[in-house]
Amino acid sequence: MKLDLQFVRSQFPAFSEPSLKGWAFFENAGGSYSCKQSIDRLTDFYVKNKVQPYYPYPASKLAGEIMDASYERMSGYLNVEASEIHFGPSTTLNVYVLANALRPMWKEGDEIIVSCQDHEANAGAWRKLSERGIKIIEWHVGSETGLLDIKDLEGLISDRTKMVAFPHCSNVIGHINPVKEISEIAHKHGAICIVDGVAYAPHGFPDLRELGADIYLFSLYKTFGPHLGLMFVNKKLIGKMENQSHFFKEGITRNMITPAGPDHAQIGAVQGILDYFDAVYKHHFVTDATPSQRNRLLNELFREHERGLLERLLSFLTSRKDVQIVGPHTLEDRAPTISIIPRHKTVNEVYTKLTEHRLMLGKGDFYAVRPFIDMGIPRPPGVLRISFLHYTSIEEVDQLITGLRAAL
Ligand SMILES: Cc1ncc(COP(=O)(O)O)c(C=O)c1O
Repeated sequence: MKLDLQFVRSQFPAFSEPSLKGWAFFENAGGSYSCKQSIDRLTDFYVKNKVQPYYPYPASKLAGEIMDASYERMSGYLNVEASEIHFGPSTTLNVYVLANALRPMWKEGDEIIVSCQDHEANAGAWRKLSERGIKIIEWHVGSETGLLDIKDLEGLISDRTKMVAFPHCSNVIGHINPVKEISEIAHKHGAICIVDGVAYAPHGFPDLRELGADIYLFSLYKTFGPHLGLMFVNKKLIGKMENQSHFFKEGITRNMITPAGPDHAQIGAVQGILDYFDAVYKHHFVTDATPSQRNRLLNELFREHERGLLERLLSFLTSRKDVQIVGPHTLEDRAPTISIIPRHKTVNEVYTKLTEHRLMLGKGDFYAVRPFIDMGIPRPPGVLRISFLHYTSIEEVDQLITGLRAAL
């Protein structure tokens, strides 16, 4: 079965927007296009339900029901319980709150392992705990490969370790880490795992029950939806954390680690992502399936398509002597988030030329400063980052290759 790309692209208004015509989008790791289902739900909520939710009058009652359904439906797709899903303003803020909620669970001198492959969102807030009595152990990446080595982790972890923080996939290295294996190592030592899934989830939602992470985070504005951060927190943990909300919210699971009270309409619009997934499922498959089964089948469809495009791009990039690929050069365990460094021209020169070819992509460090320090990559200028998703077409990849040929 092949992904019907025409159908997929028809679900994203950006692809028929006149001002974007001719521009190929390769900055998806910074934020994806939104599907029409999410945009429609957001507009609809702002028009019809922009009232305080959970009162008995109809507009308010419906607002609450729409929000509750977002928790329910998302939990189905991720294969966890609705009470384990939390929506906060962003992943960065969610980690910040978590660091404060978890600190009282640990005592002076306890250790936490923080990877050096992470975006700063899953690094800075943990490292700050060094000022509050926690010992930070750094899990470095290979200076040539940019990869995290499990053997290194085994040398760092001990029964003093309380937590391991690492990314499912780095937003600059693109390598997919074996979350299940790492979680099992952490659990053997009684430590919990906090996984940044922001750069992974846009390529297919994980089955969180199977993955085994205790806390898993991703950003919904990178997965076709509104600007929110989603966190899964294993229900066994929530009761042990310190309440970060108003004192009278103690014991109210949904509020304890989301003190900011995020935008109700955006929570409602989360369902738009799942409406989109359901529409793609219905278009390709006839059999009925549970949300997590649908998710699994959609993942295969999305990944197969992305893989074809990635193969084409990697074979072009590896054939060039004038470009360095940061991270894996092969398809194995790799997401289509590829950082490159031109060898004969500056990042800025190449970037300018690519823009002339109507290519939208990113340059810099993408807040993934730690891996670049480990790898000795200077910032500025950092790297050029190419990232695409299942809605990207082969024609767009060819436009990119033509642009790169001219620019390099
Ligand atoms: C891998 C990764 N983690 C975390 C973040 C931070 O997410 P947010 O913008 O929701 O705070 C980003 C943002 O680009 C990211 O790429």
